[in-house]
Amino acid sequence: MQKKQFKEVVVEVKHVSKHYKIFGREDTVKALNDIHLANDAELQPVRRGEFVMLRGPSGGGKTSLLNLLGTIDRATEGVIELFSSPITPESSDEYLAKLRLEKIGFVFQTFNLLATMSAYENVELPMIILGKLKPEQRKKRAIELLTLVGLQDRLDHLPSELSGGEQQRVTIARALANEPEILLLDEPTGDLDTKNTVEVMDLLLDLNLKLKTTCIMVTHNPDIECYADRILYLADGVFEKQAINIEQTRLDYDKYIEYLNAQTHGTH
Ligand SMILES: Nc1ncnc2c1ncn2[C@@H]1O[C@H](COP(=O)(O)OP(=O)(O)O)[C@@H](O)[C@H]1O
Ligand SMILES: [Mg+2]
Repeated sequence: MQKKQFKEVVVEVKHVSKHYKIFGREDTVKALNDIHLANDAELQPVRRGEFVMLRGPSGGGKTSLLNLLGTIDRATEGVIELFSSPITPESSDEYLAKLRLEKIGFVFQTFNLLATMSAYENVELPMIILGKLKPEQRKKRAIELLTLVGLQDRLDHLPSELSGGEQQRVTIARALANEPEILLLDEPTGDLDTKNTVEVMDLLLDLNLKLKTTCIMVTHNPDIECYADRILYLADGVFEKQAINIEQTRLDYDKYIEYLNAQTHGTH
């Protein structure tokens, strides 16, 4: 496989801190402290097509950072630049909502599908909200996306009629509906069994390579680090270190199961 080349910066993080105020308390929770991913630093910004994983202990600040990158929340200090435009306290909610709808896809641990809508309708919804495609175009794209994630036979199923892995694939198709430039994923395999974890990771790697979608994914699972280009370790609100994979690789399901079994049975 040809080695990936990263050029255009899509996410820069400049001395960002996030402190939460808690009702009825004087002190604040310092979730992120002077996080910096930038051209002038050892930890480089995220570039187009890159697959970055965020790892680290629970409470380390991973979700807080992802929420800031997704403009769902605002930094206490510092600036985040998405596609070379800074997100500032002056950025209006309207501007941020449009940015999210057009350029950012979200996938969470819990599948968050609308329960009364079919897989097809869930995927079509962001396109309806964006309002750029005609109904026939939307239909074609929703079917294409569900085919891409291997669910062409499940278009009319409700979320309750799908397995966990299938539901997560619908949320990935939905996240891709408006051709986002970045996918933000918060523990997308956290509720999945081993087989579905490998399947979802294989799918994400395919999308990352085929569509060149930049992926930033939180996970607590060290075994899937091989899917990333780069892993950033976040603890106590600061980056502790990073690791770089020269080449992204997949887990072989059968070998992975053997490995997991050997671990639980204590064989060497
Ligand atoms: N909305 C909030 N209000 C107050 N504290 C919060 C809030 N969200 C997260 N925190 C705190 O910020 C720290 C980082 O949390 P989080 O970003 O969720 O970490 P992670 O995703 O790595 O587990 C934790 O101490 C957590 O309790
Ligand atoms: Mg979290």
